[in-house]
Amino acid sequence: MSRDELVELGGQLDGVELVNYPDPWPVEGTRAEKRAQRTIALWFAISAVAGLAFIAALIFWPSEYAPPSEESAHFWYSLYTPALGVTLGVSVLALSVAVLLYTKRFIPDELAVQQRNDNMGKGSDKIDRETILAHLADSGERSTIARRSMIKRTAGLGAGVLGLGTVALPLAGFIKDPWANPESKDSLAHTGWKKQYPGEIVYLRRSTGNPHDISLVRPEDLDAGGMETVFPFRESERDDEHALSVAMKRSDNPVMLIRLRSEDAEQVVKRQGQEDFNYGTLFAYSKICTHVGCPASLYEQQTNRLLCPCHQSQFDMLQYAKPVFGPATRALPQLPITVHTDGYLIARHDFIEPIGPAYWERKS
Ligand code: FES
Repeated sequence: MSRDELVELGGQLDGVELVNYPDPWPVEGTRAEKRAQRTIALWFAISAVAGLAFIAALIFWPSEYAPPSEESAHFWYSLYTPALGVTLGVSVLALSVAVLLYTKRFIPDELAVQQRNDNMGKGSDKIDRETILAHLADSGERSTIARRSMIKRTAGLGAGVLGLGTVALPLAGFIKDPWANPESKDSLAHTGWKKQYPGEIVYLRRSTGNPHDISLVRPEDLDAGGMETVFPFRESERDDEHALSVAMKRSDNPVMLIRLRSEDAEQVVKRQGQEDFNYGTLFAYSKICTHVGCPASLYEQQTNRLLCPCHQSQFDMLQYAKPVFGPATRALPQLPITVHTDGYLIARHDFIEPIGPAYWERKS
């Protein structure tokens, strides 16, 4: 049986009546048809160019944070995310427009009527399978894609580049190896609280909105039941605008300093091996939720629970910030603190475990 006969037979077997099946371009090679073809090819080409621009931006655009004082560097850095979003967005959009236009201009606008038939729940038999394959092949041919080489080439390019971009996106995370130096403060296992040399003093500072306005924290600054977000500060960075800015912006640096009410502090259950991490009634925990890394800082002093607003995990501050509700499964890491001889709070050392969400190399 020829394909046309199979198509017709398939329709009859399925009770389908073709009411209208016009060829959108009955006369081949007209100027209008060529114009439609060029327009579609142009959209595919735009998709390809935008996809290439996305990959180039992902690899070459300066993504390292630059402080506002370095005007030019900061300007380009601030455009990194928009550049990725715009190029990927234009690529997807152009590809979609091209596919829609092709469907509208070149796929026959078929009108068919079919009686409802579920084949009594039985699977398709051989003739059904053959006729459906014939229908698919017929649709492919009637779409005329086979003879439109310009559209085929640009569509392949556009879809290919976009596919490459979507592969490049997850691979990009591997370009910078976070394990190149596991002892570096920039590795996943450490934070900006890590001492850069033995004996270095790392103070707790509050955010005043101005990185140069250094406001250190004394134990008496917090009332019972109070909470404050603090960041690391070292004297060696006092006049270093870049370092000050990085310390405030680095995503794993924020720490919640909490003063429990004394009657609550007496009930605290401390984590094994971390019995001396607090200073009196002052406890410091990472602010980064162990679920997927939102800032968890809704501290409710009546219940001594900390709520993460993203997915409602709750952490019990009377039990080493262990999760008691919601999707988080690990306690918030605790920062060991004490008071320096000058009366200000300092970190004794870095967290002893990675902060934030789990990742596959984590042991716990
Ligand atoms: S990120 Fe905190 S609960 Fe999901």
